[in-house]
Amino acid sequence: MKVLMIGDVISQLGCDFLRQKLPQLKREMKIDVVIANGENSAVGNGILPTSAKSLLDSGVDIITTGNHVYKRFEILNYFEENDQVIRPANFPDSASGKGYYIYDGGYYQLAVINLLGTSFMEPLACPFETMDKLLEKIDCKYILVDFHAEATGEKKALGYYLDGKVSAVVGTHTHVQTADEQILPQGTGFITDLGMTGPIDSVLGVNPQNVITRLRTHMPTRFEVAEGKCRMECVLLELCEKTGKCNHITRLRIE
Ligand code: FE2
Repeated sequence: MKVLMIGDVISQLGCDFLRQKLPQLKREMKIDVVIANGENSAVGNGILPTSAKSLLDSGVDIITTGNHVYKRFEILNYFEENDQVIRPANFPDSASGKGYYIYDGGYYQLAVINLLGTSFMEPLACPFETMDKLLEKIDCKYILVDFHAEATGEKKALGYYLDGKVSAVVGTHTHVQTADEQILPQGTGFITDLGMTGPIDSVLGVNPQNVITRLRTHMPTRFEVAEGKCRMECVLLELCEKTGKCNHITRLRIE
């Protein structure tokens, strides 16, 4: 069983690049399921029904999000009819959308869970306790976790906490791919951050000059998506069909 997990897709440029690259990659690598983080897929940040549809039409099966999930009003109703677009599970139950999705692959079921970190981020429910509760009710051989978090330490700690309980824990949010992909001692695939899908010459997808001005002046500055060549950063997970554990994790940067 092969699963591709793709880092934060940035705006129209990232969506278009993913559409250019993903179909061929899926065919060549015989990928069964594709998961992408789409919380920055809309033009101007957040996620819109149009950007979610673009990713799904390009071959993404499940879309995860993060701290920008509710930035655009238009997505709220979309959640009601599109379960495969999920928001972090540690938001309050009353928040729009669901924190996990179970993909029915016919002879197998695969659960995708999205969580938000709480170090240097919103004070949501504890991601560790949220996972304990979810694992009590989710009964799937394959479980994949997108942990959208700022702190590397928090991401690694959750990886070890879930080692042996889920197929893989991957980090998103920092938009910088880390070179620490590994299989943890009990068989869970792990990487601190998948990276992003968007312009290479940028600061996390944004025009560097905008960020330099913001940091130098501390004044409000309009952030525009950078232009130029793109890259799609992701990992390919090969999961054991008997145990659901991760046999291989391969870090990819597609240009
Ligand atoms: Fe984020």
